[in-house]
Amino acid sequence: MGKKLFPKIDQILHGGDYNPEQWLDRPDILEEDIRLMKQAHVNVVTLGVFSWSVTEPSEGEYHFEWLKEIMDNLYANGIYTILATPSGARPAWLDEKYPDAIRTSSKGVHHLHGQRHNNCMSSQNYKTLVRKMDHQLADRFGSHPGLILWHIDNEIGSECFCQQCRSRFQMYLKEKYDNDIDKLNHAWWTTFWSHRFNNFEQIDPPTSLGEKSIHGLNLDWKRFTTWNTVEFLINEVSVFREKTPDIPITTNFMHLYPALDYTKLAKEIDVISWDSYPRWNTAEESLYDTALGNAFDHVMMRSFKKDRPFMLMESVPSLVNWHDFNKLKRPGVHKLSTVQTLACGGDTVQYFQWRKGRGSYEQYHGAVIDHLGRSDTRVFRDVEEVGAMLAGLSELQGTLTLPRAALIYDQENKWAVEDAAALSKKTKNYPETCMRIFNIFERNGVDLDIISSEEDYSPYDVIVAPMLYMLKDGVAQALTDFVKRGGQLVATYFTGYVNETTLCYLGGFPGDGLMELFGLYAEEIDTLYPKERNGVCFTGNSPIQGTYSVKDYCELIQVQDAQVLAEYTEDFYKGTPAVTVKESGKGKAYYVAARADEDCMEHILLQIWEEQKIPLQKLPVGVEYHKRENETYSYEFYINYTEELQTISRETKGIDCLTGAVVEGEYQMEPMSSLIVKCKK
Ligand code: GLA
Ligand code: ZN
Repeated sequence: MGKKLFPKIDQILHGGDYNPEQWLDRPDILEEDIRLMKQAHVNVVTLGVFSWSVTEPSEGEYHFEWLKEIMDNLYANGIYTILATPSGARPAWLDEKYPDAIRTSSKGVHHLHGQRHNNCMSSQNYKTLVRKMDHQLADRFGSHPGLILWHIDNEIGSECFCQQCRSRFQMYLKEKYDNDIDKLNHAWWTTFWSHRFNNFEQIDPPTSLGEKSIHGLNLDWKRFTTWNTVEFLINEVSVFREKTPDIPITTNFMHLYPALDYTKLAKEIDVISWDSYPRWNTAEESLYDTALGNAFDHVMMRSFKKDRPFMLMESVPSLVNWHDFNKLKRPGVHKLSTVQTLACGGDTVQYFQWRKGRGSYEQYHGAVIDHLGRSDTRVFRDVEEVGAMLAGLSELQGTLTLPRAALIYDQENKWAVEDAAALSKKTKNYPETCMRIFNIFERNGVDLDIISSEEDYSPYDVIVAPMLYMLKDGVAQALTDFVKRGGQLVATYFTGYVNETTLCYLGGFPGDGLMELFGLYAEEIDTLYPKERNGVCFTGNSPIQGTYSVKDYCELIQVQDAQVLAEYTEDFYKGTPAVTVKESGKGKAYYVAARADEDCMEHILLQIWEEQKIPLQKLPVGVEYHKRENETYSYEFYINYTEELQTISRETKGIDCLTGAVVEGEYQMEPMSSLIVKCKK
């Protein structure tokens, strides 16, 4: 089963971004850092993020002595290093000499030097400079005993509209459309509004100053940006693959990052890592609801590489400085969020940042060590407590989550849905729709993966694919095969309208063979005003019962050979089919033609889980549950985010991983507490 990410350390990683280069004139502080790291049970730090102006203060003048000394010292004190490449932010000399490294905005404005995460991904000069630096890092530190991981760039991603990017985009399109402009014209349907191109050289990236009306162009530009970023990533990754093949590689991802399809980046790295900054303790939602949102991200990250744990590369033990309202993490929340990371399949808990800088943009961003410089603070004590807890949980390393269900959340589909000039701009809400389904699984304690539509469906017995508007090649067939071999599939309104270049299917939606799978076709789709409601009422012979509310979207469907489970309750389409199911081979394909409320979706899922014998957990509201396992043991996680005592009930006897106490039957959880139960399989 799963493998440990870092056998050399053999502990859950605890640590964070450390920027000693800001303190090289304060050896007292550097010494104090080591003492405090040990006190906080820190076993890893990330060095080198954004340190280019110190390691290479002018071109070809390298200063790595400080870095070596810091790494040596950390290692001597039992603290390992993740070493980042500095490409996320450029020194002034570099932009001055190689201005093509700086990105150009969509309005054609070439930016000035400054900020970060804003290079042109096409700049050959920049790629060469980055590689030179990476060679230096690999040569000097590749065999350092303290090095465990390369961290490429930081939160990589940037869109650029310069001439180099324009030419590369044209090159990318030539390749994709076999150098045949008519093929592209057809795929993008450019005869509309007389937008046909005569040659690839006429094509600009989509911007509000020029072409933005061709959906195929918009989508291919996003695909290109991902491809170009992957090329940039590979430019760095390949240095380390060649020089240090035994050191794994990561780059840190972000929450629902809109500009990239991470599935493509995930293939180039060894470990998935990500940066989590939820708005804990907002006035707008319960702590549990915030946690559900964060769980969605964790699970998506875990699902990028299902055979190993992910890393939480950044989080914060207190507050950030960039939310609209920078609220403190309340007492106890840091521990709960830590257990949540483990519960969702993470094997590291790391922070941005170890110590607050004295000046500049992030001086007030939370850290383990404040400007105060003391360890007798609330935040430090929280971190120390979490560190001690993690030190006792080494056995979790490498254990896996093995869900039998998956939710399809597809980034390219998201782009296509959002770009489609249809429905209402205000209520398309593709991510939120997926999250609502995710939450139903969470509330019932059913683990699931979050996957793209092109993933292998073989591990699953249940798949929910909300609003799968765009069908990439092979997806309809894979879904059909999934159902025929016994899987149960739930699709919704706005499924299968277009192919990968956003051309509508002719002859009926859902297209590409899905009409047959679901036994119906969609004739029209009604967009409701925000306050309007319709309803779906399950019919007498349906195993699901009740009437449920519907908002935003009602698709009017014509059923061919599916069983009608529910009908609309209002409007001129009252009494027409709203929810259907069709058996195919050994499985079933459900179609929910309207945006039905969570209660309705939950009833459909309860029916499916029961038929598929997927176990549920009876969880009190506000308690999150997940399971990880290895060959011998399972580890079940319960997190009570409420201010009340909560009772969970377990059928099997287990041991509380932290106290060794026996947990059996009904068990009372303290307010704001967590529990990890270990069971022999
Ligand atoms: C990101 C970056 C960090 C830091 C944090 C602040 O995740 O990677 O360098 O700026 O945000 O929250
Ligand atoms: Zn560019």
